[in-house]
Amino acid sequence: MPMRMSRREFLGATGLATVAIVSAPTLAACTSPGMGGAPGGPDPTFAPDVELALKATAAETSILPGTATRVWTYQGTVVNGDPGSLQVVSGSYLGPILRLRRGQKVRITFSNDLPESQQTSIIHWHGLQVPAAMDGHPSTAILPGQSFVYEFEVTDRAGTYWFHPHPHGYTARQVNAGLAGLLIVSDDESDAVALPTGDYDVPLVLQDRIFDDDNQFMYAPNMMTAMMGFLGDHILVNGRPNDTWSLATRAYRLRILNGSNARIYKLAWSDGSPLVVVGTDGGLLDAPVERDYVMIAPGERLELWADFSGRAVGDAVRLISQAFPGAENVGGAAGGMMGGMGGNMMGGNTDIPALGAEQDLLTLHIDRQEAEPLQRPATLLPIVRHALAEAVNVDQPRTIAITQQHMAWKLNGRAFEMNAVADDEKASADALEIWDIVNEVNPGEMMDPLGMAHPFHIHGVQFQVVERTLRDDYAEFAPGYASVSAGFVDGGWKDTVLVMPGETVRLAMRYPNHLGRFVYHCHNLEHADGGMMRNYEIVA
Ligand code: C2O
Ligand code: CU
Repeated sequence: MPMRMSRREFLGATGLATVAIVSAPTLAACTSPGMGGAPGGPDPTFAPDVELALKATAAETSILPGTATRVWTYQGTVVNGDPGSLQVVSGSYLGPILRLRRGQKVRITFSNDLPESQQTSIIHWHGLQVPAAMDGHPSTAILPGQSFVYEFEVTDRAGTYWFHPHPHGYTARQVNAGLAGLLIVSDDESDAVALPTGDYDVPLVLQDRIFDDDNQFMYAPNMMTAMMGFLGDHILVNGRPNDTWSLATRAYRLRILNGSNARIYKLAWSDGSPLVVVGTDGGLLDAPVERDYVMIAPGERLELWADFSGRAVGDAVRLISQAFPGAENVGGAAGGMMGGMGGNMMGGNTDIPALGAEQDLLTLHIDRQEAEPLQRPATLLPIVRHALAEAVNVDQPRTIAITQQHMAWKLNGRAFEMNAVADDEKASADALEIWDIVNEVNPGEMMDPLGMAHPFHIHGVQFQVVERTLRDDYAEFAPGYASVSAGFVDGGWKDTVLVMPGETVRLAMRYPNHLGRFVYHCHNLEHADGGMMRNYEIVA
């Protein structure tokens, strides 16, 4: 047996074509001891400024020509308060865009109306810093027919956040089926920055899917997909395939979310003009940065200043994902491009672009002249860098090792346990801490001795990326790393960060005063469902 195997070789060697290894979740009651707060029911002392209802339910939507696609979607209503708090994305399975203001108190009643009796679900507000009981911890997942009341104050910076299901073992499937939505926070400070607004402030959610012959989503992970992550052959933008937009000769603010289960994109304009990044996961940068390409991994957000004012009516430009090797080190760094070709072999579908293959994402047609009232701002919003010397663990950063053992991805050698918190997974409220996320080599593992890229996400905090280091004792890492490393935008607030094979990413974060258990995990959703997740607990 070769030391490194491609996805296809693996299937051939084991004959495991359609074994689902996604573990069955532990069903939990809708209240969970030790989580604090008032899980599951409204608090009579909480006075919401806005009250919303979100229902996870089955629906049909037209995506490809012909038969409509059965999807799972969030249907939302404004129960009380500003009707603009909720904006439907018409013609898409994506949930409504929640538009909230910093300082607002929100009550959101989530109801699980999914059509399969074992599909527990719960919503996580990805990027928001809310109390532990309101964070959508997998132990708070509810059964179909039940509901859960969220109550929290929006305290985060203005920015592009999102929400999605978080039941353990079912997240990947539920997101693939359509459950996800954007959550856009605004505040006075960010309103004062002269960026495009209204029709010129545009969400752009990137996802990939596989369709069967009857236009239905195919999600039946074989062992390979469960271990490496789902890759689709159709790119969907805001839920639509082969998307083309008609734009004016103006600047636009593009709010990009990578809502894919596992696919990483290397964003670039097809004509080689630089991307201008104005924001990351936790809101605006201190100043725009220009990049030839930008990496965006599952869970991450990027905001672009996309300026078409210098273009002629009739021009077209494509948003593409450029090729990058080495994110999946099957068959060696150079073979990584080929290695994924056989991945997701389902129903004989062998033409799924590999992780890191070049892809077209979106075509923009400049079809009308409009005067541009805005100028690209020289500065955006101040970002105060953490003073690392003040970190409580400055001499001994918390280390999270990403490894693979017996074909399962682990964090510090451990898999997820619903209610377990190890002694080294406790953290103090209000403390500033340093974390080192170390993407290890996996000597002796049949698959991936040289690891793969993992998008690492921590609930309950926004962090800063302090530095990245690539180990230099494996020459195989260098070419892959060189193909992506100029595309990291690390100067802003983050909640999800791509960690390449052989890389250590140092993070700094100050925990809020939200006592309780939060999860940290890989945002490759098949990895998270497979157990690449742990609890940490903020203690007084
Ligand atoms: Cu967006 Cu725990 O995830
Ligand atoms: Cu991972």
